[in-house]
Amino acid sequence: MVMGGGARGLAVGNGEACAIAYAREGARVAVVDYNPEFAEATCALIAKEGGEAIAIRADCTKSAEVLAAVERVMEQYGRIDILLNNIGGGSLAGDVVEISEEDWDREFDLNLRTAFLGMKHVIPIMEAQGSGTITNITSVMSSRLLQRAQRGEGYVNMAYVSAKAALDALTRAVALYEAGKGIRVNGIRLGYLKTPPIVHIVENAGVDEEIKAQYYAGRAKSVPMGAQGDAWNTAGAAVFLASDEASYITGVILAVDGGLEIAAPA
Ligand SMILES: NC(=O)c1ccc[n+]([C@@H]2O[C@H](COP(=O)([O-])OP(=O)(O)OC[C@H]3O[C@@H](n4cnc5c(N)ncnc54)[C@H](O)[C@@H]3O)[C@@H](O)[C@H]2O)c1
Repeated sequence: MVMGGGARGLAVGNGEACAIAYAREGARVAVVDYNPEFAEATCALIAKEGGEAIAIRADCTKSAEVLAAVERVMEQYGRIDILLNNIGGGSLAGDVVEISEEDWDREFDLNLRTAFLGMKHVIPIMEAQGSGTITNITSVMSSRLLQRAQRGEGYVNMAYVSAKAALDALTRAVALYEAGKGIRVNGIRLGYLKTPPIVHIVENAGVDEEIKAQYYAGRAKSVPMGAQGDAWNTAGAAVFLASDEASYITGVILAVDGGLEIAAPA
């Protein structure tokens, strides 16, 4: 079950790539997204490759809608072995003085509450099965505070940083609690990837091609491996963490970031 697995176009999204990659490994996939067209688009890509997937519309900030989605998956497949909590984003800029209380809550709902609700409603099923794996998508911003932001330069989003750090802590806490029940819980801490929201921001910034190229080059330059990643990097880690090859791994926040986290902040 992939929460936030829709295909938005512009570039391949993290949830979309993970859903496709799980299907390529033989999983029957449920793509949950608040935009039904995005969810259907991912399912169509999976079906085109001969895989099996169902699209479910749900606003995953709402408990009743997540529960209904989980019930729909159980009705269709009868079990849930993998949960990917992918919903999130850092759209609301500002430090603690600037950001409104409503925007703060909205950012936490998107990045933390969706994962909380996914785990809340899926874990009882996995506990009954005696097995399952959960992967939460987090960000390098949860651990690597940018000195540029500290100096008042660049992009500051304290709600996003805090919500993703809370998601890291929640991931480890749930992993510990579920460790004796056959359920593994891990996180994937992403660096700079070229996914739909990033492309959307760049394409709608009203700047010419040279400035766009400079922006992407700047992102790539700050990564020790010298390049931005993409959603298929996320999918590779997600398939591994859900696989039997990772059967002794729980409570890990795996960085998929080209070395960004270990580098000195720019
Ligand atoms: N792209 C990056 O550089 C980057 C870096 C670090 C972390 N991340 C994380 O990766 C994750 C996915 O990001 P992406 O870049 O692939 O974005 P994306 O926008 O392509 O994917 C998010 C999906 O979630 C869906 N969604 C949003 N709100 C929802 C809701 N309330 N209920 C149900 N579905 C909802 C969207 O429709 C979309 O299909 C996020 O958690 C983000 O914080 C991305």
